Amino acid sequence: MQKLSCIACQKNHEISDNLVVCDCGGLLDVVQPLEELKKQDLKSVFDGRLDSHELPDSSGVWRFRELLFPAKKIISRIEGNTRLYPAKKLSDELGINLSLKHEGENPTGSFKDRGMVAAITAGVNAGCENFVCASTGNTSASLASYAAEAGVNGIVIIPEGKISFGKLSQALAFGAKVLQIDGDFDAAMKLVNELGEKFDPANPAESVYVLNSVNPFRIEGQKTIVFEILQQLNWEAPDWIVLPAGNLGNTSAFGKAISEAFELGLIDKKPRIASVQAAGANPFYNYFKSGWEKFEAVENAETIATAIKIGNPQSYLRAKRSIEDTNGVVLEASENEIMDAKAAIDASGIGCEPASACSLAGIRQLVKSGEIKKGEKVVGILTGHLLKDPDSTVNYHLGKLEGIESKAANQAQQIEATVEAVFKEIN
Ligand code: F0G
Repeated sequence: MQKLSCIACQKNHEISDNLVVCDCGGLLDVVQPLEELKKQDLKSVFDGRLDSHELPDSSGVWRFRELLFPAKKIISRIEGNTRLYPAKKLSDELGINLSLKHEGENPTGSFKDRGMVAAITAGVNAGCENFVCASTGNTSASLASYAAEAGVNGIVIIPEGKISFGKLSQALAFGAKVLQIDGDFDAAMKLVNELGEKFDPANPAESVYVLNSVNPFRIEGQKTIVFEILQQLNWEAPDWIVLPAGNLGNTSAFGKAISEAFELGLIDKKPRIASVQAAGANPFYNYFKSGWEKFEAVENAETIATAIKIGNPQSYLRAKRSIEDTNGVVLEASENEIMDAKAAIDASGIGCEPASACSLAGIRQLVKSGEIKKGEKVVGILTGHLLKDPDSTVNYHLGKLEGIESKAANQAQQIEATVEAVFKEIN
């Protein structure tokens, strides 16, 4: 049976306690019973479920439920099952074997659905009725959708005027209570943590259950991005997995998934993680560069990639472990690097929101520095859909983004409505 263990004071709790944080305030891990799990042929179990049209097997999260946690009642929107696209043109350009895992193909258009479905399931099983998160947008859209599915109260706390309309529209439309604060994501997160401290396991229905990635069940759900990639690659590990980083829940989940898959013998080598921050919101990068000497929050984080405009990430200790366990690296990408990478992903016909493009920006840096070697198998994670933030795309192509060079702009042309005018443009 799985247990909850505090990464600060090492105290163990029952998995059925469904706690979000330890009594000491420390972050919790779900500890997997690896020896027990080794007795099963998990690859066959997981592969055997691929043809199923029935829940829970048909969900790309619950398909891997043995490696998550037990739950009496399962919530699902048949999330996951996202494509792993071979990126032929980019592979040729870079001299590597690149695939892009498009997590924007989840039900609400971002990877958040995988962690959200797991954490809301844990909370519902604990008898909770009020669910809250702070968000730069995607988590709020996901919470709103899953709260509607589960029939519980969804409450999202967001920085006013700082999240993209695509995401705000989802939270409003799905019926969550949207509370805007005059402050940034970090201020919203602080408020949510204060609400979480008041959680009373003896009185769950009156409490507020926190669904940010401080919640250990979120991490368990997000591990399935890695499990699904490994399954899509016939359980042959890639050399690298590269992903954007903000609040660091995903980096934490990826390291945990890789270590567990390796310990269980599902793969015979560990892919290296590269976690990529925006240069204007780079506390984890600075922490890595200091040789893990000093973690310092960044005040007034700023980047066009609003999803990762975060100065004080909550999961930095778990994420540090992920980088260490996988011999990984942390990078930072400039605004121009992010938007040029986005333009290249968009032009390949797949597309993503700005934060997601950190993956390709990071891959380009690692190829240039020689850390990614020619021919290596690399998976880049696209965390959110292009349509989450269409303003950034259109303004890039119109050359209207301050400080951005728009090197790959595809400008719309004004023409007369005649056949000749069309032919003139295409010849
Ligand atoms: N990419 C996208 C599109 C995101 O929305 C986020 C985080 C990240 C990357 C970074 O992931 O936080 O696990 O390191 N968005 C959160 C939100 C903070 O509120 O939607 P992380």
